Amino acid sequence: MRDGQAATIRLQDYQVPAFLVDDVALDVDLRDSGTRVSASLQLRRNPASKTASGDCVLNGVGLTLVSIVVDGETLPASRYEQGGETLVIRDLPQACRLDTVVTIEPQENTALEGLYVSKGMFCTQCEAEGFRRITFFPDRPDVLSRFVTTVRADKARYPVLLSNGNPVAQGEEGARHWVRWEDPFPKPCYLFALVAGDLACLEDSYRTGSGRDVSLRIYAEPRDLDKLDHAMASLKASMAWDEKTYGLEYDLDIYMIVAVSHFNMGAMENKGLNIFNTACVLAHPRTTTDAGFQRVEAVVAHEYFHNWSGNRVTCRDWFQLSLKEGFTVFRDQSFSADMNSAAVKRVEDVDMLRTVQFAEDRGPMAHPVRPAEYQKIDNFYTVTIYEKGAELVRMQYNLLGPEAFRRGSDLYFSRFDGQAVTTDDFVACMEEAGGVDLSQFRRWYSQAGTPQLTARDHWEDGLYTLTLSQQTPPTPGQPDKAPLLVPVALALLGPDGQRLPINEAGDTATVLALSGSEQQWQFALPQRPVPSLLRGFSAPVELDYPYTPEQLHFLLAHDDDGYCRWDAAQRLYHGAIRRLIKAPGLAEQEAAALAPVLGEVLARAADDPAEAALLLAVPGEVAVGDQLPQMDVEGVHRARSALASALGRAMAARWWEQVEACALPGPYRPEARDIGIRSLRHRALAFLAAAGDARVADFLVRLCDTADNMTDELGALRLLCHFRLPGAEAALAGFAARWHDEDLVMDQWFAAQASVPGADTVHRVEALLAHPAFDYRVPNRVRALLGTFAGANLTAFHAADGQGYRLYTRCLAQLDQVNPQVAARMGNACARLPRLPAEPAGQLSQALQGLLAGTVSANLREVLERILAARH
Ligand code: TRP
Ligand code: ZN
Repeated sequence: MRDGQAATIRLQDYQVPAFLVDDVALDVDLRDSGTRVSASLQLRRNPASKTASGDCVLNGVGLTLVSIVVDGETLPASRYEQGGETLVIRDLPQACRLDTVVTIEPQENTALEGLYVSKGMFCTQCEAEGFRRITFFPDRPDVLSRFVTTVRADKARYPVLLSNGNPVAQGEEGARHWVRWEDPFPKPCYLFALVAGDLACLEDSYRTGSGRDVSLRIYAEPRDLDKLDHAMASLKASMAWDEKTYGLEYDLDIYMIVAVSHFNMGAMENKGLNIFNTACVLAHPRTTTDAGFQRVEAVVAHEYFHNWSGNRVTCRDWFQLSLKEGFTVFRDQSFSADMNSAAVKRVEDVDMLRTVQFAEDRGPMAHPVRPAEYQKIDNFYTVTIYEKGAELVRMQYNLLGPEAFRRGSDLYFSRFDGQAVTTDDFVACMEEAGGVDLSQFRRWYSQAGTPQLTARDHWEDGLYTLTLSQQTPPTPGQPDKAPLLVPVALALLGPDGQRLPINEAGDTATVLALSGSEQQWQFALPQRPVPSLLRGFSAPVELDYPYTPEQLHFLLAHDDDGYCRWDAAQRLYHGAIRRLIKAPGLAEQEAAALAPVLGEVLARAADDPAEAALLLAVPGEVAVGDQLPQMDVEGVHRARSALASALGRAMAARWWEQVEACALPGPYRPEARDIGIRSLRHRALAFLAAAGDARVADFLVRLCDTADNMTDELGALRLLCHFRLPGAEAALAGFAARWHDEDLVMDQWFAAQASVPGADTVHRVEALLAHPAFDYRVPNRVRALLGTFAGANLTAFHAADGQGYRLYTRCLAQLDQVNPQVAARMGNACARLPRLPAEPAGQLSQALQGLLAGTVSANLREVLERILAARH
């Protein structure tokens, strides 16, 4: 891998393209070596470009140029210049046809961008900038073209040949065959896709609201054909939901999904031909957990929804990435909420945002939802762009209300259909349709960091005064922050837990619009209420309010807002763990104080087992550590374990009761209520395992061996490993013997071991790196072993002598040679560097500097340099 150092790209430097490409004809001749790509581009000077005589700049990386022809004439060498990553052509006429032929080597492509091979199948990944690894092209999202693609390959080895759009012709030439695909919708080249392989297919069809029949096809390796039903059902549900909720219909006659094992991310929304990581499309009760089933549903929906939010209306440039990702995440979250329990889904989403995105905002990689600059765009497919971006759309939804929001989205899709636009264009539609002024709201897009919202109140003589103030801490490159428009949903609860009327109209809930640094509101109330603040998590902020434990118990028991109930529980756990870090001996007391609260949750658990399971989730070590002024690895681990163990002992009988009560009869069904019951049961088992209960190890061993579904089997295995219970090693061996042939299940086997707390896990991970089933070329496997180790195992990764850091950076160096995108993403696990105490910080920083001193890709370099810069 060449040592990379990328230039900084800035939003302010944006210029429209000098040339447009109206039509592209691609001919891809797939070979064992020397795959030949012939491209015919209909070029035209962009009337909107001011550089009337500008050169035509095409991107191209790793291409061997065979020929270049303009309007039928071979171009003389004096007319073009091939640099490392561009092809610049001079003196082109107003319009012309450019024909190029290049060869590429997909077999050797381990970076998994552009055209590559996964388990003998050719496939592509072009977002963000992979198309330039296939042919010379203006690889930017504001160039939209109609594509006709001919795919040629050996007939026996690659019977299935796919690309975007509809098949229009096919033929045979001896042992080879070809299929031609035509996509009538102009699209940016990042949405191009091609697949060739020996694939099985699940077929179904869907009739749209307007009565068109769409053929639905999900392709996978033949052995996985029995794992496609859930994805198909999710796809049909998504299509119906988008018609009902947004009035949006699918627009081609075929919708295809292909499952591939080697994939850098979750899935990709290529027009009419989605390509999915197997982890996000395959689902079967025997091999897939409940969380896996839910992920498949969400990701299938996400990619389907992109057909409008992303494909029909796309991004002008990559600074606008959240235009499609934030909106599409909001859409898939709303879909999942409608398909399952809305309150539970909201809490899961908020939990992820608060633990992962808030951490990103606190660290060296903090950036706005619409960044102003980047080196490698691949490094900006972040929780900030996706999840915080979705929160910005959600705030607009709540500010406008459902009807006005729908008018806004209708306006957006009709006004910008077939265009490449900006987040500002989106907000402008909402502004226009809602008749609201969102000028201050727009700052959410350009300002990085999590606002700190402080709430203070007092009650006196029948008047309740609430003071809200906001302050956003500085982030790298953005020292000064302006106040944002923060919608704070509020209710005030009376002594019986009911919402009190808070105005003359008798409303019992309202949204306070905090726009300045500090504002005050007053309510006439006969007694002091308990405030239910930031209901539904109405804004992505961190709330500081001096809740008493009594108030938190009260909210947990009475608040009718699911988010506020959960937040109250989280505050109780965090408070107890923080006290235990300072005073380790008091776990029994803390458990005694919490037990009645958890008892109440259990008493109500039958109403909504999924919610009960969420309320009974003690925050993870990383989440606890992130809340401290400085990371205290040992303190967090000891305190959290002590609390869980004490709660396990104090309520052992109740937990066993739950284990009994939550044993589901009958066959496994991945439905919301059953999922909730199983997760509640595993929560109870986790408390018992933490307590070292006398009976729990045997119980888990049996569950692991006899379960008819992966949720129970893996849940049991994880607990056995995590708490190093008797039988854990045998269970691991049995599990591997059963599942050695199932990649996605073996990923879980690697992950379960990488997450075992304790410094000795460093050696275990080292041993697993040498396991024949470990492979740096498979991102899922790398994430399972190394991602889990560094991202979800405080005590091993931060092991006292720095050996965890040294192992990890050694692995990153190796991974970077194979796959820079994945290496850079995994480099983010080191972003807590500035939050570590001096000694581990020194060790980690030394390990990172050592890594940077070697040969490093531009992707990984950008991440490492940002992290190291933040330490000074
Ligand atoms: N657009 C994809 C999504 O739906 C993201 C994605 C898939 C991606 N593969 C990628 C981004 C590779 C960068 C590189 O979220
Ligand atoms: Zn997406």
